[in-house]
Amino acid sequence: MGQRFVDRVAIVTGAGGGIGEAYARALHAEGAAVVIAELNAEAGQRVADDLGDRALFVETDVGNPESTDAMAAATLDAFGGIDHLVNNAAIFGDMELAGLLNVDYDYLDTFMSVNMMGVLHCTRSVKRAMRNGGGGSIVNQSSTAAWMGISGFYGLAKAGVNFLTSSLAHELSYANIRVNAIAPGPTDTAAMNKQVPVEYQDPLVQSLAIKRLGTPDDHVGPVLFLLSDEAAWMTGHVMAVDGGQVTRI
Ligand SMILES: NC(=O)c1ccc[n+]([C@@H]2O[C@H](COP(=O)([O-])OP(=O)(O)OC[C@H]3O[C@@H](n4cnc5c(N)ncnc54)[C@H](O)[C@@H]3O)[C@@H](O)[C@H]2O)c1
Repeated sequence: MGQRFVDRVAIVTGAGGGIGEAYARALHAEGAAVVIAELNAEAGQRVADDLGDRALFVETDVGNPESTDAMAAATLDAFGGIDHLVNNAAIFGDMELAGLLNVDYDYLDTFMSVNMMGVLHCTRSVKRAMRNGGGGSIVNQSSTAAWMGISGFYGLAKAGVNFLTSSLAHELSYANIRVNAIAPGPTDTAAMNKQVPVEYQDPLVQSLAIKRLGTPDDHVGPVLFLLSDEAAWMTGHVMAVDGGQVTRI
């Protein structure tokens, strides 16, 4: 393992479990100070306690800009700067099963404020600190659902995340801030197993070129690459990490 993030400060939203926890652990192992920005206090504190030094849990609701401003302020207080942000948090495991035509509007408002606008709130909150530190990098967690066109409001929010990735890459280039995204395919987490119970997963797995579910660790390499200086000339890109679920020619 390299040490690409020594003296860097990284915020990972939704890092209290699942894929976000894997990002937080990997960034920490490569030398970063890591903020676990998580709504679920018990889960977030567990990860921070486990990591020990250079790790801080900050209770955060990414759907609320005041909360994300407080998240950035707490990060600056603790570690003196912000270099990297991973916008991973989303309502997913407990997501309501409804279509675009029958989803309750209040629920849809909350859902979009977290799953789509949360990316914008967090980015706005960290922008000044990143710019003052000479630049930084952001990776947004999208999904292949954005490209499949059949996943209702979940896919709609992720399509918005893709658009934000491209637009913010242009708006933030003046500050030397890069913005990319990854689009995971189906990945073995408690949340995914709740959405698609194990006994229904086989057709999904068979539709992939690589016939197994992804694991959180499958996403770590691509995300740390995009965050790192190795990707210095990459911005506005959405990278599929999906076992070949969605391919283009
Ligand atoms: N697992 C998959 O198959 C899969 C596939 C494609 C994309 N994704 C995306 O990957 C990310 C992580 O998914 P996961 O499977 O690890 O699920 P997960 O539920 O374990 O992770 C989401 C985390 O976000 C937190 N969260 C929810 N609302 C929040 C809020 N308002 N503020 C802060 N934190 C909040 C949750 O508490 C949870 O810890 C999500 O963005 C999801 O959409 C997952």
